[in-house]
Amino acid sequence: MINLVPVLSEKEIKVKVIEVAKKITKDYKDKELVVIGVLKGSFIFLSDLVRNISQPLQIDFVSVSSYGNSDKSSGNVLLLKEISIDVKNRDLLIVEDIVDTGLTLNFLVEYFQKFKPRSIKICTFINKLERRLVDIPVDYICHSVYEGFFVGYGLDYAEKYRNLPQIYHLKFNQRG
Ligand code: IMP
Ligand code: MG
Repeated sequence: MINLVPVLSEKEIKVKVIEVAKKITKDYKDKELVVIGVLKGSFIFLSDLVRNISQPLQIDFVSVSSYGNSDKSSGNVLLLKEISIDVKNRDLLIVEDIVDTGLTLNFLVEYFQKFKPRSIKICTFINKLERRLVDIPVDYICHSVYEGFFVGYGLDYAEKYRNLPQIYHLKFNQRG
C-alpha cells in the first residue's frame, strides 16, 4: 500500500519559488541567462520559476534517464534529449526537481562544459542529502530534506503523481 503524506502546500511552494527567482534575477543582471530544464521532473518548477525571473532569458531542455521505474538510482545516466540552442559564452542555469545522489547533475555539468558556456550553476526545488555520492555544488535550493521519497509538483514515482499541485512524502505501508 502506498501512502501519500502532504509535506509542502501550494502556498509554501510559491513563497520559496518567488524567493529563489528574485535571487536569480539579481545574480543574473547583465548576464546571458539560459535556463535548462531537466525533463521530465522539472517542468512545473521551471515554469513557475521563469515566470518570476525578471531578466531576459532563453529556455531549453535536456532529458535524462537514471531511475527507471524504481525509487533507487541506477547510477547510469542516459541522455535522451540534447539541447538545441547555442549555449557558448552563455550563463547556464540547470534546473532540477530534486538532487539525490548527484550523479545526474555531475553527468550534465560535464556534458554542458563541452559547449564552452561562460558559467554553469544549478538550481533545484528539493536538495536531498542522505544518498549524495558526488559533491556537486547546488547554488539555488528551495527546500532541503535529509531523506525520503517525494512526489507531486512534477516529481514522480513510476511516472505517477507529477500533476499533484503540492509535495507529498510517499510512504510504502508494509501492512495493507
Ligand atoms: P540523482 O542522479 O540521484 O541526483 O537523481 C536525480 C533524479 O532522480 C531526479 O531528477 C529525480 O528524477 C529522481 N529522484 C530522486 N529522488 C526522488 C524523489 O524523492 N522523488 C522523485 N524523484 C526522485
Ligand atoms: Mg524522476
